[in-house]
Amino acid sequence: ADGGLADRYGRVARDLRVSLTDKCNLRCTYCMPAEGLPWLAGPKLLTDDEIIRLVGLAVARLGITEVRFTGGEPLIRPGLPGIVAAVAALTPRPRISLTTNGIGLARMAPALRAVGLDRVNVSLDTLDRDRFTALTRRDRLAEVLAGLAGAAEAGLTPVKINSVLMRGTNDDEAPALLRFALVHGYELRFIEQMPLDAQHGWDRSTMVTADEILASLHTAFALTPDPSERGAAPAETWLVDGGPARVGVIASVTRPFCGDCDRTRLTADGQVRNCLFATEESDLRGAMRDGADDEELARRWRAAMWAKRAGHGIDDPTFLQPARSMSAIGG
Ligand code: GTP
Ligand code: 5AD
Ligand code: SF4
Repeated sequence: ADGGLADRYGRVARDLRVSLTDKCNLRCTYCMPAEGLPWLAGPKLLTDDEIIRLVGLAVARLGITEVRFTGGEPLIRPGLPGIVAAVAALTPRPRISLTTNGIGLARMAPALRAVGLDRVNVSLDTLDRDRFTALTRRDRLAEVLAGLAGAAEAGLTPVKINSVLMRGTNDDEAPALLRFALVHGYELRFIEQMPLDAQHGWDRSTMVTADEILASLHTAFALTPDPSERGAAPAETWLVDGGPARVGVIASVTRPFCGDCDRTRLTADGQVRNCLFATEESDLRGAMRDGADDEELARRWRAAMWAKRAGHGIDDPTFLQPARSMSAIGG
């Protein structure tokens, strides 16, 4: 009614997640095959100016107050600092965050902070170099750790860590990851693996569940429910040993939070997705290049969100994984 991004279930999207590239400099086994994926062709990618235009109209006309940049790996997009600067200049100024694997962050953090980036989430699944190398197929753990430190030093705080646990690979590491996060003042969240891998190898029986993660943490820490308001956040949080430190679990599969979802997504090739698991997209790139004005683009974006389904449907017998994988949607 206010021109915002409402859906028929009463949810309103205020959080825009923008994928800046589908490419990545790691090859996490649960995400991509070793050889990578057929990347989006250059002409299909939104230009920096097109991204800035779409984010601008989302803020000005559609009620977006939070903008997160994702990938693939967003730090490999050369225009990132300029895009962040342009978004930080919008009125009203949205909060701006980045979800990254951390490679190159040590070098870029001060400049990104200077142009208006507020905070970062960094993916880190293991603290063991050999495991990291096996899991990501790249020997670059040291760069990720340096990226975390650089982000904290530059004031991109709170620095959050995202960890995906895999059975038989790193599922014994939850307490060690939490100890590491506590020592450095990072906020750790564990993520249940979702059926969004390019290889379609996800299997419920191998997924490490929120209950298992919590049981593992309980062997080393006292966890009590965090009294602060959760809102639309995917992470449920607990106070560690009485607080103030916290740990989170993003239980997308076993405790879905779709009913509180406040997200809308824009892919690197200019498609609006109303859900991670959407099977349909709305083509803003084509409309924009055909000369659509902001009013028309806003109208299409609203229509796309109105069609959002109640939930991801992973538990339905008819569930089908979306054609686009996580790395091409943005986490
Ligand atoms: P902040 O806590 O505000 O920093 O946001 P966030 O947790 O949404 O950010 P991040 O990009 O780090 O996302 C972490 C993980 O949450 C993603 O990798 C996904 O696994 C999960 N996630 C994010 N958005 C959604 C969503 O809309 N649906 C589901 N099911 N999972 C999501
Ligand atoms: N399920 C859950 N999380 C995933 N990520 C990548 N693929 C999946 C998946 N299938 C995580 C990454 C990163 C974040 C953006 O998404 O580890 O932390
Ligand atoms: Fe929202 Fe879809 Fe995510 Fe569920 S899976 S929380 S509906 S975006």
